[in-house]
Amino acid sequence: MNTLILVNRHHAYPANAPQDLVPVHPDSPDILMEREAAQALARLMEQIDDWRHIVPVSGWRSFEEQQMIYLDSLRDNGREFTQQYVALPGHSEHQTGLAIDLGLRQPDIDFIRPNFPYEGICQEFRKLAPAYGFIQRYPAGKETVTGIAHEPWHFRYVGRPHGERITERGLTLEEYLS
Ligand code: DAL
Ligand code: ZN
Repeated sequence: MNTLILVNRHHAYPANAPQDLVPVHPDSPDILMEREAAQALARLMEQIDDWRHIVPVSGWRSFEEQQMIYLDSLRDNGREFTQQYVALPGHSEHQTGLAIDLGLRQPDIDFIRPNFPYEGICQEFRKLAPAYGFIQRYPAGKETVTGIAHEPWHFRYVGRPHGERITERGLTLEEYLS
């Protein structure tokens, strides 16, 4: 598995890439990630003991699932919103199994834009994430680089030491790789 694979509007995810997907938590058997990423997430969450307040919202997606999300969002939210927050089918890093959307546990969770604030337990997660190989993939101010709006809830597994290097230098994955 190449943890540094770049998937964005210019780089599609290869359809035949091998995958080893496992649930991120026993309570969410349908939310999957690549085994190494799921294990790193489990260790991080264990350190803060916080599957109590944080829920996995979306992990691995098939091409077909991404297409359904995209078309549903076009219908419900319009083109501008959809292009900002939903990657084109074939171009979502959720298809890699290395991305996870997380939300604060609350009664109504927005599937496309879950609440994951810059305070409290979510911020504690965010601070520890790089040491476990995770980066916040779509930061504010980098929209023209990533092609996606600021997404506080979307984390991407890149492994170590890349998570720390990327975060310390304030880079996006695009910038780190180039
Ligand atoms: N929300 C991210 C960009 C995706 O759809 O992959
Ligand atoms: Zn996401």
